[in-house]
Order: sequence, then C-alpha cells, then structure tokens
Amino acid sequence: MPNLRVCALFRPLNSKEKSDHGDSVCIRAIDSESFIFKDEKEEESEFQFDKVFYQGSEQADIYEFLAFPVIEGVVKGVNGAIITYGQTGAGKTYSMEGPSVIDSDEKKKGLLSRVVDGLFNIIKQSDEMTKYTVKLSMVEIYMERVRDLFDLSKDNLQIKENKVQGIYVSGVTEICVTDSAEALRSLSRGIANKAVGETQMNMASSRSHCMYIFFIQQELKKEKKSGKLILVDLAGSEKAEKTRAEGKVFEEAKTINKSLSALGNVINALTCASQAKANHIPYRDSKLTRILQDALGGNSQTALLCCCSPSPSNAPESLSTLRFGTRAKHIKASPRVSLKEDEDTRRTEIISSTINESRERILEKLGQKMNAEDVQLLEQLLILEGIFFDPNSVEEVESAYEDVTSRTISSMQKTIKELITTVEKLTKENQILKAAIRRH
Ligand SMILES: Nc1ncnc2c1ncn2[C@@H]1O[C@H](COP(=O)(O)OP(=O)(O)OP(=O)(O)O)[C@@H](O)[C@H]1O
Ligand SMILES: [Mg+2]
Repeated sequence: MPNLRVCALFRPLNSKEKSDHGDSVCIRAIDSESFIFKDEKEEESEFQFDKVFYQGSEQADIYEFLAFPVIEGVVKGVNGAIITYGQTGAGKTYSMEGPSVIDSDEKKKGLLSRVVDGLFNIIKQSDEMTKYTVKLSMVEIYMERVRDLFDLSKDNLQIKENKVQGIYVSGVTEICVTDSAEALRSLSRGIANKAVGETQMNMASSRSHCMYIFFIQQELKKEKKSGKLILVDLAGSEKAEKTRAEGKVFEEAKTINKSLSALGNVINALTCASQAKANHIPYRDSKLTRILQDALGGNSQTALLCCCSPSPSNAPESLSTLRFGTRAKHIKASPRVSLKEDEDTRRTEIISSTINESRERILEKLGQKMNAEDVQLLEQLLILEGIFFDPNSVEEVESAYEDVTSRTISSMQKTIKELITTVEKLTKENQILKAAIRRH
C-alpha cells in the first residue's frame, strides 16, 4: 500500500437535513474515486481521492480498502495510523466504533472491531515460531490534556520519545490482550469514559480526540520487531456561530479547532517538505500533532478518512474537509520496518546531522541560554536518552534541552535529598557517640 491513503466518506442524510433540503445533495459521483462538489454559491469543483465512499457504502468496504492494508503492515513492523477527520456530526465516531464496539450487527460494525478481529486473525494465521504480544492503551486529548481512558486518575500524561516505541504517552495504562473478545471488552470500557457532549449538530458529540493505541511486538529467534497502530477519532471541527456554542462548549470548541489547525499546519509543512528540502514541521504545537508525529511524518502507513455530510446545508464545512484531505494526499513519507538497527541508523543520522549542520544555528539562536559546552553536553545527553528531534528546529532542540535539564535537575535533587538524609543519620550517630563518651 502507498504510505498514505486518503478517502472521502459521505454519510446518509439525517432527518434534519432531509427536512431542510429534501433529498438534495451537494455531490455528483463521477466514479469510485472522483466526484463533482457543488458549494453554497453553486460553484462546482472536482475532487479525487484514493476511494470515495458514497452514501450507502458498507462499513466492511471501508475496512477492506482503508484499514486492512495498514494492519498488514503493522504486523510486519511498519507503524500505522487510521484517522477519521471531519465536521461535527459527519460520522467519524460512527465509522470508527459503529453503534457499539461489542454487539453491533455484522453490517454496522465499525473500523475498530474489524481492525481488532483482523489483527488477531493475522496473528493466528502466522507461523507458530513467532511469539506475539499485543498491548492496548486508550487516551483522549481533552482541553489539551492527555487522559488515560483506562484509568481516569491519570489525567495529564506527558508525551515522550524513546528508541523502542518512538513517540509514546508516558505512564499510560497498557493492557495485555490475547484475543479479540478481550480487546473489545477493554475498548468498550475505555469508550464509556470518553468526554461526550451535545452540539447543535450532534447529540453525542466527541469533545476530545480519542486514540486507540495498539503496540504489537513479535519475537522470532533473536529478532524482535515491533509495530504501533493508532486509530484516531478526532473531535469535530465546528463553526461556533453555526453551532451556537457557549460557555464550556465554546471553550471546548476553541481548543478542538486550535489543535485541528495545528494538524493542518503540520500537514502543510509536510507537503512542502516532500516537495522541497525538509523544513521545520511544527509537531510540538499541539498534543495531537505531537502524538501523531511518527504516524504522519516518518516510519508509518497512514489512512485518512475524510467524513462529510452530503447535505447542501453543510457544504462549506464539507468543502473544508475535502480540501484538508486533498492537501494531505500530497504528503510523501517513506515507511520503514522498525528493526532495532534501523532505529540506530536513524538516531546516528539525526545526531550527526545535528552536530554538523545545526550547532552554529542553535548556538546563534540560543546564544543567551547555552554556550558551546552546553550544546556538547546536550548532544551527549541526547545520545544517552535516545531523544530524537528535528535538527533544523530551534524549538525542538530547545524543548529537548529543557527535557534533559529538568531530568538532570530532578536527579540532582534526589541525590541532594539522599545526602541530607545521610548527614542527618551521621549527626544523630555522632550525638549518641558523644553522649556515650561523656557518660564514661
Ligand atoms: N454511515 C452512517 N450511517 C448511519 N448513521 C450514521 C452514519 N454516520 C453517522 N451516522 C449518525 O450520525 C450521527 C453523528 O455521527 P457521529 O457521532 O459519528 O459524528 P462525529 O463525526 O463523530 O461528530 P463529533 O465530531 O461531534 O463527535 C450519529 O447519530 C450517527 O449514528
Ligand atoms: Mg465523534
């Protein structure tokens, strides 16, 4: 499969849309990959995607075309991401979860249940010599905080990076699952914890970006491979004036729109990066883009489902979703199998390019904060910690620097505390000794 597949989906008209505009729709199919879109000014434009799922498409077809190739890759050690994008009420959660992950009828089952079944089927059919471990996590990004949906007490988790997992959510609950039924039960538990609200457009609107993360490790003799699969059900973009959001709902919508525009900026930067020389990709501008960093830019196969309403009443929002999908189609990343050697090569490449190309730039920009020795120390610490960063990005270097210094400071604080305890203990022993001497 190409490393990025972008599809458009038009859900059936809902009753409100039908009562406003009858059966009229703003699209006219050309074939299974292209269509004519009529905007609110009746202007027509043609769109083309890897596949278009028109109203009445089967959930199974979306799975076969969009998701199955991604999970095949994950089992071979190539990371994968399946993302649903679109306006509130456009059908993202329905495509991902179906009416329910556990007991939907076969026809309505969403991507998630099908992915879980498909994953365990591939594992079952593989040779018996290979040992598989599947771990599952579920998080949501709500108001820019990462919450663990398996343990709500963890409500502000940090995103970190290491050489085994790439980008990961530090301290997140990981559930080891051995079959499909067990995985779906866990997922259903996590889904019950999601932040859901009501918008004018959707009675059960997702107010957070939800991520279902599968970490699949396989071991054959001495070779270890691992693949990460992230399914992302994004919160819907909405126009505040249209949905008449107020108070908390308005604050939520602002945060959602902000992180979705950060996603748009990353996609724009990646599109430019694939056309010209790599430039700065602003992954760190939001939690969403940071978690998706290695899914969008690097060693990954990504499937994007752009969900739209077919109704003329939502034409401006659908148009913006379709434009987003069209831009995303131009990203060119090259997936690679996550073998350990590969990671080491990547690390060496990044570190050497950092040392050779960026030292002067970093020094110049961070002049007040760091001197040459600091930069050298940073490089050494980064090698030890296995931290990756974009060598052309002053912000990323700065953030890596802060990461390392805060860790160094906390380990120094620990040492100081231990020293104080030792000194106190010695003082006490000394007093006892002195008292004993006095008595004699
Ligand atoms: N393909 C479909 N077939 C039938 N009903 C659908 C379909 N897609 C969506 N719906 C219905 O439309 C409504 C809104 O869908 P959904 O909750 O998936 O929207 P969403 O894109 O996740 O919105 P939000 O961003 O607000 O979370 C739901 O009631 C859902 O059942
Ligand atoms: Mg939703």
